[in-house]
Amino acid sequence: MYEEHPNALALIKNRKSVRDFIERDVEPEKRQAIYDAILAAPTTENMMMYSVISVSDPEIRAKLSKQPAIRRAPMVLVFCADYRRWSRIFDGMTESNRRPQEGEYQLAVIDTVIAAENAVLAAETLGLSSVYLGDIMEHFEDRTAALGCPAGVVPVVTLCIGYATEQQLNRAPIRRYQQKYLIHEEVYQDFDRGELMEMLRDRGQYESMEQMQTWLAKFSARCVEGKGSIERTRSIRAAIDSWSKLSF
Ligand SMILES: Cc1cc2nc3c(=O)[nH]c(=O)nc-3n(C[C@H](O)[C@H](O)[C@H](O)COP(=O)(O)O)c2cc1C
Repeated sequence: MYEEHPNALALIKNRKSVRDFIERDVEPEKRQAIYDAILAAPTTENMMMYSVISVSDPEIRAKLSKQPAIRRAPMVLVFCADYRRWSRIFDGMTESNRRPQEGEYQLAVIDTVIAAENAVLAAETLGLSSVYLGDIMEHFEDRTAALGCPAGVVPVVTLCIGYATEQQLNRAPIRRYQQKYLIHEEVYQDFDRGELMEMLRDRGQYESMEQMQTWLAKFSARCVEGKGSIERTRSIRAAIDSWSKLSF
């Protein structure tokens, strides 16, 4: 048997992403505990609009991401939004011609992500670490082919789980932005650009304003015009289009 972490809040606060793992497999009972946590996650109307694909084959993994974590992790789970099951169940139940659309997609993605985060927290309680990989949202056609996903099953996020290396465990956590910018009372508070620059500066990882501006220029270019960002949008449009192949 294994010991679980006794203090859930401390565990949530101290968690950080881990991108390198020692060569130690995840024990079967821990894998099962992670699956149990996934299945217990909150889910729209109890519909569980996700499927999780556990991938160990290095050839399949190589088709999902070029990031080293996917090669190193003993446990790789791909969380997919899945409306296929319900489309089959509903098929022919009504006269409607409507097909699953953005609304169904959004609910399924929410279900999927909540299930994934349950896996993250369960892994932490078991002494394991993890990192999400978001590049599964790109190249929809190739990723679904590699995973054998039929229409209505869309990979949303990959989770790499394993035992952290010493170096990763000792790495300082990434500081968050201050609470006042993120958590609002009663109504939304719209900060002006000056305040938002202060929010960035306050995180304290820049030695000077000039250094922060340099980082910001690169970061905004990546988010706005980066190849990954543009491909992700194309890919998600293709994914949503594929849902219209389903019927109710
Ligand atoms: C949807 C999503 C996608 C992510 N994709 C990647 C990724 O592709 N590669 C990576 O190294 N980390 C990825 N991360 C991890 C974030 O970079 C990390 O959570 C963030 O920088 C905060 O660091 P922390 O988790 O250590 O607190 C992703 C996280 C989320 C939630």
